[in-house]
Amino acid sequence: MKVTVTTAPSAGVKADALVLGVFDKETATGALKKLDATLKGALSRAVSAEAFTGAAGQSLSVHTQGALGAAVVHFVGLGAKTGANADTLRRAAGNAVRLVKKSGAASMALDFATLKVKGVGVDEAAQATVEGILLGAYTFDRFKSDAKKPRLATAQVMAEGDESAVRHGVKKGVALAEAACWARDLVNLPGNVATPSFLADEARKMARSRKIKCTVLDPNGIKKEKMGGLMAVAQGSHQPARFIILEWMNGPKSQKPIVLVGKGLTFDTGGISIKPAANMEEMKGDMSGGAGVMGAIRAAADLNLKVNLVALVPSTENMPGGSAIKPGDVATSLSGVTMEIINTDAEGRLILSDALAYATRYHPDCVVDIATLTGACMVALGNLCSGLFANDDTLAAQLTGAGEATGERLWRLPLWAEYDEFIKSDVADIKNVGSRWGGAITAAAFLKKHVGKETWAHLDVAGTAFSDSVKGYLTKGGVGVGVRTLVRFVEDRTGVKG
Ligand code: BES
Ligand code: ZN
Ligand code: ZN
Repeated sequence: MKVTVTTAPSAGVKADALVLGVFDKETATGALKKLDATLKGALSRAVSAEAFTGAAGQSLSVHTQGALGAAVVHFVGLGAKTGANADTLRRAAGNAVRLVKKSGAASMALDFATLKVKGVGVDEAAQATVEGILLGAYTFDRFKSDAKKPRLATAQVMAEGDESAVRHGVKKGVALAEAACWARDLVNLPGNVATPSFLADEARKMARSRKIKCTVLDPNGIKKEKMGGLMAVAQGSHQPARFIILEWMNGPKSQKPIVLVGKGLTFDTGGISIKPAANMEEMKGDMSGGAGVMGAIRAAADLNLKVNLVALVPSTENMPGGSAIKPGDVATSLSGVTMEIINTDAEGRLILSDALAYATRYHPDCVVDIATLTGACMVALGNLCSGLFANDDTLAAQLTGAGEATGERLWRLPLWAEYDEFIKSDVADIKNVGSRWGGAITAAAFLKKHVGKETWAHLDVAGTAFSDSVKGYLTKGGVGVGVRTLVRFVEDRTGVKG
């Protein structure tokens, strides 16, 4: 979809559909009264006939009979004004774009950026609106024989007065949403297509057109580096593993890089500790963390952020092949830590151990990993937020703040030293599962063993990487979780804005 900016007023803007946001119980503001007069009272009549109040999720469509530049006005409810934030606009834009799409319109105009939301600047409002439009309109239909190109092809973001701020926000929103949609594609692609080598090829292609440096280790390189965790998980699969390194060194030489690490399991059967059949197909999305960091570095480059940023993605399948790892096997991580593999389904932490150890070579400012790591995190937090673990309070606060701004909320869980007891092994330094309880935390405790003294945080996105419903700007399947939040975090941490 093409997104443009217009300074035309509501009554004059030319589009098949005009979308106006309305806060709860604010159906008769000055601007709406004026519009109502132009529409000869059609708006106020529809409001009372359909009991439209502006509650979140409500919508009201009024045909303008030629009274306005747009054929139809869709009023969309934003909910209560108090407590509204950028995500209110993002969600409403997502809902609105599907409403317009369904109506068969070819063009739309949205008047969201000019809404006054407390604490949200005009540029940020425009950015959130565009993110909502592009993410909400996302579909994955490349395997549908009858897929049709949607009619809706253009969206105009309306800017009365603040054109340059809106333009800046729109540009940013496009870069971030396109990167997140790219990550969604990678997640939604089936495991037989999106193999580790495919993921690496996609990374290479993405990097080439953006002056991002891309290095890919194949099984020989992985062996040479002694990445024992990645090798162990990969040995049961016919698909060769990859270790993807992306570097966007666009900041001052003196600035330590931020290193992002993403779990790149292109399919997780569980291995010999095989998973039950129900919903196993969702495990094609076990590379969501990897897609998230690849999307984040792509967006950072598109925004030309003057920062030093690295993304690392260890990638493999987890299969129960004849040479697969067995419960009781011991592997040695690149970190030097020996790991007893009690359960082959706890494979994410094994491949992340090497990537985290590799990250320390950059002498980073900080390391942030993102992974669909544990079902236990889903049990603890559901799908409304991701789990956050950190060995540094400032880092945790920055990530939480970034998640608040992007609508990808994070909730911190503890990393107390006592949890380390649960992953002590009788035969090796550590084992890859703890007791039955606190599984998300013992997984994080396992990762902690490989980061040395680095400032580090871990995001467990098992519950948030995949959406089972269409809601706001979320569509079914991959979410592209982390892309927007990690970029926002990098901006906040470095103070460098795109
Ligand atoms: N990829 C899974 C975690 C997962 C579960 C992601 C559900 C998304 C949705 C991970 O590799 C895994 O299988 N973890 C095990 C760990 C256990 C064996 C300690 C789990 O959570 O059951
Ligand atoms: Zn697993
Ligand atoms: Zn997994």
